[in-house]
Amino acid sequence: MSGDNDFVVVANRLPVDLTRNADGSESWTPSPGGLVAALTPVLSANEGCWVGWPGTPDASPEPFHTEDGVLLHPVSLTEADYRDFYEGFSNATLWPLYHDLIVSPVYDRSWWESYRDVNHRFALEVDKVAAEGATVWVQDYQLQLVPGILRQIRPDLTIGFFLHIPFPGPDLFRQLPWREEIVRGLLGADLLGFHLESNAANFLDLLRHVSIPVEGTARTREVQAFATGGDGRRVGVAAYPISIDPSSLGHSDEAAVAQRRGELGDPATVLLGVDRLDYTKGILQRLTAFEELLESGALDAQDVAFVQVATPSRERLEEYRRARSEVEEAVGRINGRFGAIGRPVVHYLHQALPKRELRHYYSAADVMVVTPFKDGMNLVAKEYVACHPDGSGSLVLSEFAGAAQELTQANLCNPFDSESVKAAILQAIQGLAAHPDVMAQRMSVMYEQVTTHDVDAWANAFLSSLRDARR
Ligand code: G6P
Repeated sequence: MSGDNDFVVVANRLPVDLTRNADGSESWTPSPGGLVAALTPVLSANEGCWVGWPGTPDASPEPFHTEDGVLLHPVSLTEADYRDFYEGFSNATLWPLYHDLIVSPVYDRSWWESYRDVNHRFALEVDKVAAEGATVWVQDYQLQLVPGILRQIRPDLTIGFFLHIPFPGPDLFRQLPWREEIVRGLLGADLLGFHLESNAANFLDLLRHVSIPVEGTARTREVQAFATGGDGRRVGVAAYPISIDPSSLGHSDEAAVAQRRGELGDPATVLLGVDRLDYTKGILQRLTAFEELLESGALDAQDVAFVQVATPSRERLEEYRRARSEVEEAVGRINGRFGAIGRPVVHYLHQALPKRELRHYYSAADVMVVTPFKDGMNLVAKEYVACHPDGSGSLVLSEFAGAAQELTQANLCNPFDSESVKAAILQAIQGLAAHPDVMAQRMSVMYEQVTTHDVDAWANAFLSSLRDARR
């Protein structure tokens, strides 16, 4: 079967989530996560089709066009799929395994069977919408079997795959009981993209381990490495560091910034964290580092406010519940110790803030604190930088975020070492006071990097390699 669309993106989520309201009505809201932010502009420019889950179990809305002319083609997931494929195999097996075991992955055969089944259904939906000879771009760890299934049922397609999270070293990946099937699934693609050369190198090392022929070395935006697919086809492997769409951030102005800072009690320094509430993000550790700085007197609670926006995520999973309760306990403790009536020192929101509101906080913050233990890229760090064209502000960034490879002028830190996080926060605050010109120069270098390597550049680089791969 084939459809009408020459360009199809397939991702676990559609760019919008169907939300059931208390009064029984339904509405669409933007989906969480960096992937959606990254792909929406690319698809609207190509009048493409997006195949994905509408974000609510058991919902099966009809396909429809967005205002940007993108056809959204929903794939329905049952409550059991949600539990076994999404919460189970995707987020309690693959997510912790690919993030270097920050928590222990759970290996469960029934989750794996659900993963295989759901990947199959996604591939069949792509088959319905993709025109003869279409280009299909498969996204992320939830759908690693889709390239292999499509290769079998639709050899006419050009298939790209991009992994939005890290790819672990071979010794970790080899724990996975279904490792061969995953590798075979990925090798169904014509081109495999990773964020970093090191992620791509991990994948190539893994192939060498299992005696799959590999040529060349992984490079950034250049296909210089090839793996061999099951049918002897060459599969390109390269790194394409993802980025943001600076224009999607809207605008802020002095009045909006002054209002936000006023609401925080006009402190001398505003620190900001913005993350999905995920144990990989190091939210607790950054709050604890902040607490220790208050405790030691290195920071004075009268002078600082820490705004932490934590977007709700994967809330039924035990590890996420634990991460949330630890963060919320820390917020309560820090405010209990160092706040005053009407004047908390940590301002915590467990909500998804609209981009236009986040923008004001990005602009208002003197120091953005991004401290993941492991992160594929981290688009929040890039968004913050893009909101400081005048060189104001300062970024504290974990060495273990993919973004640290590009944002080398940040105050880099090791989130496993609280002394390192504390030192980076202090360097940022003191640097702004003592050497504003140097700090502005550093921020400007990062601004240049982010705005000249935006999401369009990312997508164009990947899609141009994909076109070459099939020639
Ligand atoms: C990360 C993943 C995305 C995912 C997003 C939100 O950015 O790479 O694939 O969509 O997190 O997570 P969720 O589980 O809510 O889809």
